[in-house]
Amino acid sequence: MPRVSAPLVLLPVWLVTVACSPHALRIAAILDDPMECSRGERLSITLAKNRINRAPERLGKAKVEVDIFELLRDSEYETAETMCQILPKGVVAVLGPSSSPASSSIISNICGEKEVPHFKVAPEEFIKFQLQRFTTLNLHPSNTDISVAVAGVLNFFNCTTACLVCAKAECLLNLEKLLRQFLISKDTLSVRMLDDTRDPTPLLKEIRDDKTATVIVHASASVSHTILLKAAELGMVSAYYTYIFTNLEFSLQSVDSLVDDRVNILGFSIFNQSHTFFQEFAQSLNQSWQENCDHAPFRGPALSSALLFDALYAVVTAVRELNRSQEIGVKALSCGSAQIWQHGTSLMNYLRMVELEGLTGHIEFNSKGQRSNYALKILQFTRNGFRQIGQWHVADGLSMDSGLYASNTSNSLFNTTLVVTTILENPYLMLKGNHQEMEGNDRYEGFCVDMLKELAEILRFNYRIRLVGDGVYGVPEANGTWTGMVGELITRKLCRPEGSGKKYSK
Ligand SMILES: *[C@@H]1O[C@H](CO)[C@@H](O)[C@H](O)[C@H]1NC(C)=O
Ligand SMILES: *[C@@H]1O[C@H](CO)[C@@H](O)[C@H](O)[C@H]1NC(C)=O
Ligand SMILES: *[C@@H]1O[C@H](CO)[C@@H](O)[C@H](O)[C@H]1NC(C)=O
Ligand SMILES: *[C@@H]1O[C@H](CO)[C@@H](O)[C@H](O)[C@H]1NC(C)=O
Ligand SMILES: *[C@@H]1O[C@H](CO)[C@@H](O)[C@H](O)[C@H]1NC(C)=O
Ligand SMILES: *[C@@H]1O[C@H](CO)[C@@H](O)[C@H](O)[C@H]1NC(C)=O
Ligand SMILES: *[C@@H]1O[C@H](CO)[C@@H](O)[C@H](O)[C@H]1NC(C)=O
Repeated sequence: MPRVSAPLVLLPVWLVTVACSPHALRIAAILDDPMECSRGERLSITLAKNRINRAPERLGKAKVEVDIFELLRDSEYETAETMCQILPKGVVAVLGPSSSPASSSIISNICGEKEVPHFKVAPEEFIKFQLQRFTTLNLHPSNTDISVAVAGVLNFFNCTTACLVCAKAECLLNLEKLLRQFLISKDTLSVRMLDDTRDPTPLLKEIRDDKTATVIVHASASVSHTILLKAAELGMVSAYYTYIFTNLEFSLQSVDSLVDDRVNILGFSIFNQSHTFFQEFAQSLNQSWQENCDHAPFRGPALSSALLFDALYAVVTAVRELNRSQEIGVKALSCGSAQIWQHGTSLMNYLRMVELEGLTGHIEFNSKGQRSNYALKILQFTRNGFRQIGQWHVADGLSMDSGLYASNTSNSLFNTTLVVTTILENPYLMLKGNHQEMEGNDRYEGFCVDMLKELAEILRFNYRIRLVGDGVYGVPEANGTWTGMVGELITRKLCRPEGSGKKYSK
């Protein structure tokens, strides 16, 4: 059963007064945030409410009240019941939930019937098959936008072959725009679905054996994190690979254990960390996390909590605008009657005109109720945390910080260890007469050895000479594989024992 967790005494008298002249601007939030190690949604709503109510410009305006309801599971029936408890309170909007698609859809439908605005904070699902209600707004960037941004990044890095790892079946529908891009460009995209065991190991091994170097992961932050850890275990987090994560919570994907700095791990964020309230917001969430969740470190605010914060601001801004032209009264609605909220349509029109700077960047909606005129920051994981390497703007497209990509070969090999696969051949590479008494690279001499020594000094890298297993340069086999040095390069056998390192051949 849904539980009213902020119980409030509803007297009939109160309802009547509310119906005529509102003392409070009442909003409902339906949350599915777990109690322990929560995403901080409840707290961020409280932070937004207090900040709005305490702001000096509130003078003479109604106080904001938020009734919070908790969903115990994603059930259409239970959510419908919750909605029937909410409607008599006379709310001006319903916010959430962030991860219950069935509930979210029933809320949209009921809000649509009653003409009460509904703010979603989760990526839309099956947008093609579901009529988007006029009363629904989504603060989460659309899947189409994410698809276009990913396509832009792939194009920038000249990736023509990629593998898409999907956590859910609807992934292909969600990223339809990205698939379309691959069809148009005739580039190759293979798709792999995580199975019910949720173990990405077999799938990653296939990607490795396919020699696909670009991996797009469409999964939640925690599943994405598991995939990256498994990839590291399999030696797939090396300079050869590029990973692109489509969830917008890249900064929550802790990747402490990764040591190879040259692997390209990319993701997106919409947080505006220079927003005046952002640091305080993050600190409050951090503190509350530490009080309730001692076994896991706090990685940063969850996207849904910041979106709910912004949703509250958007609603209050629009209601105040609207209230300047018409005194808006709230009405106690009910599931049992056909009554609608007479100000709902006007409020929706005002919400579509709202413009404000939120914790999640610029907030503005298009006529479909989706975010418009905003930017996704493109982040890269580095040894020192995340750095922004560019951004994708809905209207202006991709702009990358080109300074970061001016290739500097003298840096790119610095302090790395290369495995040099080679073959004995006079006068290029020979064993010294007394090679038995020596170890490692000292055993060899010749033109190539001298050249390698010079290069290593200039570019400041280390190397290890290794004779190819079968002692040949390599020829193709009937089944398409290669022998010799070429074969070792293709299978990238070389870099595995060392865990990291590029492989160069003579
Ligand atoms: C609308 O404006 C009136 C007076 O200007 C004010 O009393 C009322 O509280 C406002 N309502 C809301 C919801 O802000
Ligand atoms: C992609 O290819 C273009 C043209 O070949 C090249 O100028 C550009 O530097 C490449 N981009 C990257 C990131 O390597
Ligand atoms: C971040 O928020 C501040 C307002 O606090 C705003 O002035 C600034 O333009 C925003 N930056 C971006 C990149 O959205
Ligand atoms: C959370 O707070 C602790 C101590 O109060 C601090 O050490 C840690 O860096 C903070 N984490 C983040 C992600 O801000
Ligand atoms: C490349 O790196 C070297 C060594 O750090 C530095 O001296 C040089 O100025 C860099 N070149 C460019 C074009 O950034
Ligand atoms: C070079 O790499 C070694 C081991 O990987 C590390 O201990 C050392 O600090 C690195 N040196 C520099 C200057 O980065
Ligand atoms: C291809 O054939 C060679 C021998 O002709 C064999 O050693 C190798 O295992 C085969 N590779 C595959 C993938 O079947």
